Amino acid sequence: MYEDEKFAQVFYDELEGGGLGTLSFVGRMVFDISGFFYVGNLLRHCRLRSSHRVLEIGCGAASILTRAYSVNGSNKTYFGIDISPVMLDRARQNIQKKGLNDRIFLVESPASTLPFKSQSFDLVFLAYVIKHLSDESLASCLREAYRVLIPGGNLALWEFLPSPISWINRYIYAITRAQKLRTLPEVLSFLGDGGFPVARSFTVIAPWLPTKTLALVAGENRS
Ligand SMILES: C[S@@+](CC[C@H](N)C(=O)[O-])C[C@H]1O[C@@H](n2cnc3c(N)ncnc32)[C@H](O)[C@@H]1O
Repeated sequence: MYEDEKFAQVFYDELEGGGLGTLSFVGRMVFDISGFFYVGNLLRHCRLRSSHRVLEIGCGAASILTRAYSVNGSNKTYFGIDISPVMLDRARQNIQKKGLNDRIFLVESPASTLPFKSQSFDLVFLAYVIKHLSDESLASCLREAYRVLIPGGNLALWEFLPSPISWINRYIYAITRAQKLRTLPEVLSFLGDGGFPVARSFTVIAPWLPTKTLALVAGENRS
């Protein structure tokens, strides 16, 4: 596990565990309802089918997975991995509430080393995680996403963009404990190096922070 991954684990355990006061309160609320906000656009742009096997890297409270599963009427199992055991406890509660225990499975794991066989998934979600990854762990994460996707599979990635206003960036770094906010060209360059040369953008509405969100569906290319 990379140092930035250990750092994120400690931060999210504390955040979800309630140790950060108001930030914990707001964070838990956002993670619980995030799926409601994103999933409409996600389903359209990722062309999610009921036959698709889905993995979410950094699944948080499993809000996106549970919502995608229900809206999509899937007949496959979904998987989520996260580095924070406290987050995963919350995710398990949410999955149980929706009666999806035997449909959505969770594993504690860093994004840089995924515990799945190669070519196991049609679609991988990576939502609001890459700001926590150093360049090295982001490169590993994308290599792993590529490995676990089937040929022709898609990676759906979204994350806050850096703001042109410096105090907003300072605020985002302070409350999210991010390693690095990246511009669109920077993310496209990582994707290209990771085997995802084809990317199209879509819209994600995220009213949580005063900056735009970059959202891409990246197709892998094995040729
Ligand atoms: C901002 S939350 C987003 C959760 C969810 N994807 C969503 O959008 O609702 C980021 C999540 O990524 C997880 N995370 C951060 N760095 C990680 C890493 N290196 N490996 C696995 N999970 C990571 C955190 O524990 C946290 O649950």
